Amino acid sequence: MNAAVRAVVRETVRGGGETLAFLRGFEGLCDDETRSLGPLDVSNVLQRGGSILDTSRCPRFFDATWRERSARTLEERGCDALVVIGGDGSQAGAAALAEAWDGAVIGIPSTIDNDLGGTDRSIGFDTACNTALEAVDRVRDTAHTLDRPFFIEVMGRERGFLALEVAIGGGAEAVVVPEVEFDPERLLDVIRRNLERGKVNSIVVVAEGAHPGGARGLLQEIEEGLESIGVAGADARVTILGHIQRGGNPSSRDRVLASRLGAAAAEAARHGDGNVLVGARGSEIHAVPIPDALADEKRIDLGLLELVEGLAG
Ligand code: F6P
Repeated sequence: MNAAVRAVVRETVRGGGETLAFLRGFEGLCDDETRSLGPLDVSNVLQRGGSILDTSRCPRFFDATWRERSARTLEERGCDALVVIGGDGSQAGAAALAEAWDGAVIGIPSTIDNDLGGTDRSIGFDTACNTALEAVDRVRDTAHTLDRPFFIEVMGRERGFLALEVAIGGGAEAVVVPEVEFDPERLLDVIRRNLERGKVNSIVVVAEGAHPGGARGLLQEIEEGLESIGVAGADARVTILGHIQRGGNPSSRDRVLASRLGAAAAEAARHGDGNVLVGARGSEIHAVPIPDALADEKRIDLGLLELVEGLAG
């Protein structure tokens, strides 16, 4: 996100404009908490994780009164455009604000879930995948040495993009995602087939939303089944990666994506193109109406689930 903020500021100033940041996302907009940002204020931030502006969950933005108040704040401050960096919740807020305000609202997709429509990739996804992959590689060392099955939980309450990418990149034996109802028999079958080939150290990547109890609940559910195929349930281990996936220095791919999207957002602001999300399609940067991006339900490629199991042997 910092790389995107930097690009928005520098490209805006290069085009003759000025930038003002609202702190903590929509919270800062509701409370009119701002910081003026010039080109030097965004020096040395490109490589940092998190956000120099802080962020928030802002339930009061669901209330039209707060959005109208925010629109008045933007008018009083003389803003022509507002850039909103975030995932589907933030972009839904952006689209709702666009109905209350005449200025140009421009969205930049940023979510490690990568589940926002209108773009192939969102800022943060690649970094989160690489962080999770590094952890999987480390866990694999133990799994291999001790011949134990490991269940690694990655983020993703509703979508399995991160889990799938990590499973393929990490050479997992199986992946469990929220989009497909959990089938204990199928998972046990994969583990059993691996055992028959002499492979005891399965790695199963589990998206947090794929089972009501996450990876722990999933393991509990199949523990007896594991015993029945000859794997000691007590040997199985669960690793929950949690919020380490949301922090850290961004990957090169994310830095470049964020820089390109930030510059494109500043350009859209200069032209007064409102209610659009700037996103990536292949190697191109394009703009789509935010409501279209929200309506475009992005789906994982189910064929890739089979690829994970197919390459596990
Ligand atoms: O939506 C992005 C996300 O990273 C999800 O994958 C995850 O479930 C959630 O945010 C975690 O957010 P919080 O820290 O608010 O629980």
